Amino acid sequence: MRNSGLLTGVSYYPERFSRSDWERDANLIKEAGFDFIRTGEFAWSRFEPSDGVFDFAWMDEAIGVFAEHGLKVILCTPTASPMPWMSAKHPDMVPVTENGQPFYPGERRHYCFNNPHFRFYADRITREMAKHYAGHPAIMGWQIDNEPGGEDFVCHCGVCRIVFQDWLKSKYGTLAELNRRWGGAFFSFEFTDWSEIPVPLGHNVRFFNPGFRKDYLLFYSDSMERFLLSQADILRAHIRGVPITTNRFTLFWTDKFDHGMDARLDVVSYDNYDLEPSLSAFHHDFYRSIHPDRRYWILEQHTGPRDFGMSPRHAVLQMAESFARGAELVCAFSWRQIRYGVEQDFYGVVESDGTPGDTWEAFREANRWLKEHGRVLAELRTRNQVAILHSYESSVIYRTMNAGIDYHRALYCNFYAPLFELGLGADFVRSPDDLSGYRMLLIPFHICERPAEDIRKLERFVESGGTIVVTGDFMLKTKDNWRTSRDERQPLERLTGLRLDKWLTIPRELHVEAGTEWGDEKAEIRGFFQKFAVADEARVRVLARVDEPARERGIPAIAERRLGGGSVLFLAGICEPPLLKKILRDAAARQGISVLDLPEHVACIPLYAGEELRAYFAMNTGGKPVTLQLPVRRGPTDLNALDFAVEFVDGTSVRHQGAGE
Ligand code: GAL
Repeated sequence: MRNSGLLTGVSYYPERFSRSDWERDANLIKEAGFDFIRTGEFAWSRFEPSDGVFDFAWMDEAIGVFAEHGLKVILCTPTASPMPWMSAKHPDMVPVTENGQPFYPGERRHYCFNNPHFRFYADRITREMAKHYAGHPAIMGWQIDNEPGGEDFVCHCGVCRIVFQDWLKSKYGTLAELNRRWGGAFFSFEFTDWSEIPVPLGHNVRFFNPGFRKDYLLFYSDSMERFLLSQADILRAHIRGVPITTNRFTLFWTDKFDHGMDARLDVVSYDNYDLEPSLSAFHHDFYRSIHPDRRYWILEQHTGPRDFGMSPRHAVLQMAESFARGAELVCAFSWRQIRYGVEQDFYGVVESDGTPGDTWEAFREANRWLKEHGRVLAELRTRNQVAILHSYESSVIYRTMNAGIDYHRALYCNFYAPLFELGLGADFVRSPDDLSGYRMLLIPFHICERPAEDIRKLERFVESGGTIVVTGDFMLKTKDNWRTSRDERQPLERLTGLRLDKWLTIPRELHVEAGTEWGDEKAEIRGFFQKFAVADEARVRVLARVDEPARERGIPAIAERRLGGGSVLFLAGICEPPLLKKILRDAAARQGISVLDLPEHVACIPLYAGEELRAYFAMNTGGKPVTLQLPVRRGPTDLNALDFAVEFVDGTSVRHQGAGE
């Protein structure tokens, strides 16, 4: 629960500035109304100037200056940027990309999670910092590393190969079992000794054994988990009562890791650089869903103009949106543009000479608004009546399949974005164990099998009135990345009332003609197509059939089955988003979920006190004024360009008039 006021802060790097700058900056940070700084994540060379020699005095002094101004600190472990001496001493700690390219020092994140030398240094600096800063009154949170997984490769080095072999030993026990489950009889991929097992590296990996590739990706995700938890354990041994987290990044870059692991930290965090409102909503919903108590922080967001071509007002909108969606705190990146280094073109809250300008003014004004009205957002919570059954293993399987489907992108583009346009969002659930509170469950691109008891839970959800929308790839693969057998899909056939026949990855377009439910609609089907026949004639209705090519005309493409008080909608392939939007709108309406027609650039967030809808947070990220009709108001709501408002059910509202252009 967000109990106190909502906190805002800035990323600040004392090692880049002089002591007199710290004083001036602390004054300006405080004057702009921020509550904390976030620091330390790139300062390893200053914390450990030579191997095993530690110096925290300069950071103590800096923290002292900020604390004197009433500012708190989120302190970060600096392991994202190891010093060059480390890789010079241990050349094997340099990671190797899928193509066999080493990633040498020069930027950051040039380390392998599994390398024992790197892990020794990483654990040691973490321990030294934890001991030194334990109990420090200014420290309000710890961040592990920086954007772990933000690198655009998966390491395939020699160390990973050995650790992978051990991982496989504990997963399979015997080589005979591994050979069987990887299907080694195909292309003679059978091993006679664990040490023969390679990593999926080099030319044409796309055609490598699917069990081997899937295991490598799961192993790599586990390696990251071990790395993070090792730091978390060290911190926890010394630090009490201060939350520990790490900062994630856009899912589209970092889905090589199962973000579910973050539930084992005290709070989930991510860096929100999404400017497109539906993408921003997608990441908020995704990350908010991870922690059992829904706790999450935004540890970086952009600051405006030159950074990403935005106005400072946009940065302020983004901050307010994060709070409306449930974040506990928001930290802007960063305080000041720096004249050297690879990020010299990135903007900050103050100008590059350290003086306050229009961005500083805009944040000051936003912080004032938050101090005055933030409680309104802190006391209410957003809720989704729609959930998406998320499957990290499906994402991994799709990566091994070369089917042209990128799981998270496909989820976002085909399902989340159309929902967003209807004014809806979705929670991401990992199992059907607790679906109370949801009226609709989407199961898109869930290609990995589920146990039969999960399917029974889905049946119960439908029988008690819920709607399920499921795509034709559901459960097509086993956990070992084999095609499921007819027997293994039996429970699914019972749920859908369909006889699932032949699964095709579509080489060209199919056009379907949809029934009257959504008007006369022609749409393209993409990606895959599940041929099916109706088994439960009494309760299944075919809603769309293939129209083209003529040879396939009449094959069913979308079917609905009534079951108890609810229904299951089965989509044999992925239809184009406009048709999907109609399907979702119709399903939501039948569930009594109120939908909106959001104009472009607008986001709308329902806010609840418990079960009761109290208000909408509406924001306009576009350059022109818009008018909205919200279900809570009789009259229209006008929103200026780059502005937001909270409109209450009782007719009152809290407006915001931002500073700056
Ligand atoms: C983030 C990263 C920061 C900084 C920033 C630039 O992704 O965590 O350290 O590089 O991007 O916008």
